Amino acid sequence: DAALAEEGEKVFRKCKSCHQVGEDAKNRVGPILNGIVGKPAGAVEGFRYSKPMTAAGEEGLVWSEAELIAFLAKPKDYMKGTKMAFAGLRKEDDLLAVVEYLKSFEE
Ligand code: HEM
Repeated sequence: DAALAEEGEKVFRKCKSCHQVGEDAKNRVGPILNGIVGKPAGAVEGFRYSKPMTAAGEEGLVWSEAELIAFLAKPKDYMKGTKMAFAGLRKEDDLLAVVEYLKSFEE
């Protein structure tokens, strides 16, 4: 849904200090998020993840929309030991919108 993705672009401002998306995206404090919806956790080339993130991916965690929403709502509760220093998005609308926005970037 294009309108929702547009809302999500605004929400993504909160992520931009650490993450990039789009053609020229590079790993920064956080990994590139192109193609993240449906991708295994901890799998972006060249990014150094925390141990728990790497382990979660190895154990089969895939970033479905539902898993992303759960992670982004409370990263540190969802994954003990993650190095993503972000408190989380409190509003359900923001969570749905940012995931819709991320879906618009292919790997
Ligand atoms: C990891 C999304 C905000 C730093 C991740 C991952 C996602 C994500 C999906 C997992 C990536 C993967 O498995 O390849 C987002 C979104 C944000 C946000 C949508 C805003 C709503 C931030 C902010 C920071 C940050 C503000 C920096 C202060 C990181 C780091 C990791 C990460 C360091 C790697 C975590 C680890 O290895 O444990 N983020 N993020 N993120 N993010 Fe964010």
